[in-house]
Amino acid sequence: MAYAAQSGTPAESADLQGHFRQLNALLLTHQALWRPAPFCLPVLPWESHYPALTAALGALRERELAALETDQEALVNWLSPYIPGLEPVRALDTVPALAARHSDYPAGFERDIPGRKWQQVNAFAACLDPLEGAVLEWCAGKAHLGRAICQRLGTPVTALELDAGLCAKGNAMSRQLQLDVHLEQCDVLSPGSTSRAGHTRHAVALHACGDLHRRLIATVTERRMHSLHLSPCCYHLTASPQYHPFSQDGKDSGLALSRDDCRLAVQETVTASAAAARRREKKNAWRLGFDALQRQLRGVDDYLPVPSIADVVFEGSFADFCRHAADLKALPLPAATDWPYFEQRGWQRQARVSRMELPRHALRRALELWLVLDRALCLAEQGYSVTVGTFCARRLTPRNLMIRARL
Ligand SMILES: C[S@@+](CC[C@H](N)C(=O)[O-])C[C@H]1O[C@@H](n2cnc3c(N)ncnc32)[C@H](O)[C@@H]1O
Repeated sequence: MAYAAQSGTPAESADLQGHFRQLNALLLTHQALWRPAPFCLPVLPWESHYPALTAALGALRERELAALETDQEALVNWLSPYIPGLEPVRALDTVPALAARHSDYPAGFERDIPGRKWQQVNAFAACLDPLEGAVLEWCAGKAHLGRAICQRLGTPVTALELDAGLCAKGNAMSRQLQLDVHLEQCDVLSPGSTSRAGHTRHAVALHACGDLHRRLIATVTERRMHSLHLSPCCYHLTASPQYHPFSQDGKDSGLALSRDDCRLAVQETVTASAAAARRREKKNAWRLGFDALQRQLRGVDDYLPVPSIADVVFEGSFADFCRHAADLKALPLPAATDWPYFEQRGWQRQARVSRMELPRHALRRALELWLVLDRALCLAEQGYSVTVGTFCARRLTPRNLMIRARL
């Protein structure tokens, strides 16, 4: 699928807009399947409408499940006979890779950058349009990307970052490499922060979360900056519990999203090691075991969100974990609790949840792309030529979509 949108006439932005509208129709059609979270609902509202699917998911063996969890194409193939109208997702949740121009960096340039981060930075920098003039890096961390850009293009970079420690470390790295990249400690959400963009003409951001990249897009369009290269991330990290579409098409879409819906878009993680996957499974099983317990104790058949809990708690016993979670929720626990029973319930529910998640998994990339295209269309409305594509392989990061906008 060719993938560019020029601003101006609607015909020119037809690619992005057409794709957005098709994704929107797909997501609306299947919303009964992707909205409810199996983790929170022991029985899903769609089960009675899709009895054959429910039975087939329940009958999946562990090895079959693992194979479907890691292969989107196989997953859509497997689900399609049970879900009429799912098939188009195969074409719709894909965008082409952006053209890349790789270049060499001096020996040792990446020495202090973790391996996968360096590969992401390298790939991102290779997809940049030619930039002339100062660059603004948004939510820069240690500004690894800024230094890669400065090294490649010789342009000065101003990098904004909240964390003073990261700023200090990043500035030390810039001095060591003698690169004109300056980190400034700055809360980009604070009033007036956009003036820190100064005289920069181009903006870049690698993995800027929800409200942070919303502010970036506003800054770029208000200041009529010449270009933006953005890889958005964590669409759910927003002050508002409801999603506010960026583009007119988004506003007209009829798709109202909650923060939890947006979370689904970033649920996919890079394949963890077997040990990390087992730890995650155990955490989920224990949380679900506690969920079964709290439903019984409260006499309320509702999910009770429990805040994040330190890893060390999961190294103890299930009973201690439940005491900790109950404490957090100010829930009194009876002295005599059948811990093995609730722990087993947790593992049973974990097995079921991972199967019932599969229909959502088939649609989460489509949702992510909808969110990205909503941002891209907003930039097109503001007069930018916009391209959307992937800047790196998914195994490096599933957040591999980039919006390239040029005035
Ligand atoms: C996901 S990290 C990405 C960092 C870097 N771009 C990278 O890819 O390595 C997001 C960064 O945003 C920073 N951040 C969070 N809130 C911020 C804010 N309000 N203002 C500026 N930076 C912020 C965090 O400290 C963190 O370094």
